[in-house]
This record gives sequence, C-alpha cells and structure tokens, in this order.
Amino acid sequence: MATPNELLAQIADVGVDGKRGGYSRHVFDRAEHELRDWFTEQARARGMEVNTDANANLWAWWGEPGPDAVVTGSHLDSVPGGGALDGPLGVASSLAALDRLRAEGVRPRRPLAVTVFAEEEGGRFGVPCLGSRLLAGTIDPDRVRELRDPTGVGFAEAMRSAGLSPEGLGRDDEALSRIGRFVELHVEQGRGLVDRQRPVAVASSILAHGRWRFRFEGQGDHAGTTPMDDRRDPMLPASHLVLAARQAAAGVEGARATAGRMVPTPGGTNVVASTVDVWLDVRSPFEERTRELVLALSETARARAADEGCRVEITEESWADTVSFDAALRDNLTEVLDGAPALPTGAGHDAGVLAARTPSAMLFVRNPTGISHAPEEHAEPDDCAEGAVALARVLEHLTEGERS
Ligand code: GLV
Ligand code: MN
Ligand code: MN
Repeated sequence: MATPNELLAQIADVGVDGKRGGYSRHVFDRAEHELRDWFTEQARARGMEVNTDANANLWAWWGEPGPDAVVTGSHLDSVPGGGALDGPLGVASSLAALDRLRAEGVRPRRPLAVTVFAEEEGGRFGVPCLGSRLLAGTIDPDRVRELRDPTGVGFAEAMRSAGLSPEGLGRDDEALSRIGRFVELHVEQGRGLVDRQRPVAVASSILAHGRWRFRFEGQGDHAGTTPMDDRRDPMLPASHLVLAARQAAAGVEGARATAGRMVPTPGGTNVVASTVDVWLDVRSPFEERTRELVLALSETARARAADEGCRVEITEESWADTVSFDAALRDNLTEVLDGAPALPTGAGHDAGVLAARTPSAMLFVRNPTGISHAPEEHAEPDDCAEGAVALARVLEHLTEGERS
C-alpha cells in the first residue's frame, strides 16, 4: 500500500526546471509524456484498464467502466516553475486511496475511475482546464485546435506529436454520462486549514475568473537616439496597467488581479519596444464584479495607450463563472469526514468545470504556508497521508463499498 509521498517520490525528477526552480511540466511535452507513462504503469500495476479519451484525458477503471461511476483524480501538468503538489498530489492520493480500499477489503458497488485531466494550468496553450472543458463541451474544439504555444506550435500539432489525434476533440457525452460524482483532492492554496488546525477540508466555492491579453503597440526605436518626447513606447501604458490592476483589485472585496507575464518585443536593453503583451488574471467572488474590473482596466489601458501614441488590443483568453459546489454532496462529505471545514478557493480546478455537468466536490490538504504555483509549495507527508485516508473514506461512501 503506497502513500502519496512514496508515489510522488517516483516522479520527483520528472520535469525539474533547472532555470526557474520547481517543475515545468506542460501538456504534450517530454516531462508530461513521462508522467502519463508513469500513471499508466501505476494504474496497470493495480490491475486497472487505462485509456486516453479523445480530449487527451487519461482514465483508469477499477472494474468495468459503467454509468453512475465515482470518478476521482486531478492533473499532472504544472505552471512554469511550479510546485510538486498542485495536481500530482490529487493523482497520487487517488492511487493511494485505491490501495487502502483494497487493503481493507472494500469492494465498490459502483464503478470507480481515476482520471488525469490534460492542460489544467493552461501553462502551454494559455487556456486552463482544457481537457475538462473539452470533455464538458464548454469550449469550442476548433478554437482549441488553433491555440498556439509561445513558440508558435499549435495544439493540434502538439497533440499529434504526442501520438494522439486532434480529430475527435470536443464534448464527450459518453464519458460525461458515466460520471455520477467527481471528487478531486488538491493541496490547499491558502492558509485556511492552518488557521483551523485541521489536515483536510471540503471545498465550498471558486471565484469567477479569467485571463486577458493586452497587446500594446507603439514604435520600436533606438534607446539612445530617440528623444524622450518623440517616443511611442508601449512599455509605458503596459506598466500603468500593472499598477492600475493592483489598485483596482484592492478596491473590490475578495478580488485579485495579477500581471504575471509581460513580454516586450523585440526585448532589447537598448531598444524601445515595438509591442508589449501583458496577460492579466482577474478574479472575484462575483461574475459581474470580475467583469467590471476588467472593463475599468481596459479603459485605463486605452487611455494610457492613447497618451503615449500607442494602440491596445484586448483579447479574452479564458473565462470561468463562479462555482458553488453541489451543497448536498459537500455536506455529505463534511459528515463522512467528521465535520471537516468547508473552504472557498481562488484557484480554478477541473472539478469546477465538471461541476456544471455533474455533482462535484473537492478535498483540500493543509498547506502550512499557503504558497502555491511556486517551488516552495508544501504539505507535510503526514497530512498528505491523512488526505489519502479521507479520500478513501469518501470513495468508499460514494461507491457504497462493501467490506468483506
Ligand atoms: C489554476 O491553478 C488557476 O487557478 O490558475
Ligand atoms: Mn494550479
Ligand atoms: Mn491544480
């Protein structure tokens, strides 16, 4: 019977980012391919049948695939330079929970599957939760096929080079109809559990969130010969936008706005940039508030761009409504887990996408610092082990497992 940390130790060397620190594991790259192989091997070693669906998600079935299944799992890709747990903890804990159920002689009375969703972070193609959105039919597959990574490689091409066909991308009613309940275990990405002195929580909600690209266009020029009053420098409105985002979000309760990525072109120290791309990630508890914030920031961006003789083009790259997890399922899991607290989160998840189609829930494992999307992300091994025990109890309950 493996613990989550024993399983995570097996992939500790995969996708280590020597430059940024932490892990860079992106959909269809070598590291992610290795992780898929690792998962397949682990699931097969447990006698599970493994397949990849038309949207590049992996499915491992304990027994015959069938309707009204209880599905658990998470993702194996990361943000650039991410931590070891965001995603992989949920996958490792699913396998560890299955081991526990078997060791305890529990036989599920409903089909049980572990899934690994593709491109949850949007770390390569910019749109998060692609695998689950495609499956659920909440994103146009033609749009996905056209997405490009920062080096210009298209999604369809990357999928083909990973040995998969992009032809069948899109809503998968057969797979959807099988999911009776979905439960995702995840490392907590805040300090809610530290304050409550509990190792495991149940999720209550997810903020409404999205990503927008602001492309500022000016005139590339010489840094030494272009007088200061004769410039159209897109770095100026771009920088204003970064400052305005902090200020605007600070004025809206529970809101967050982040410029985590800014790319000047051509990017020379002695060059006035010709274009600057800034990606904004904006979130808040309410859909309207999130959209109002983005509208206000768009106006600021346009005004500042005009002041500098620049143009700005704004593109919405992704959007996710506020998620309130199924209240009955949440309360049920709280009861199974002896009154585990219910916590909201600002992070997006595949469970949030699936919540629009099927009753879904999440378990969070305590993170002592709350740090996530960074190499310092951590959870104590004892807490991870408790998380897997909690997941096993939840799976036993939801599959109406029989003990022999
Ligand atoms: C995913 O982790 C997100 O919320 O960006
Ligand atoms: Mn993440
Ligand atoms: Mn995640």
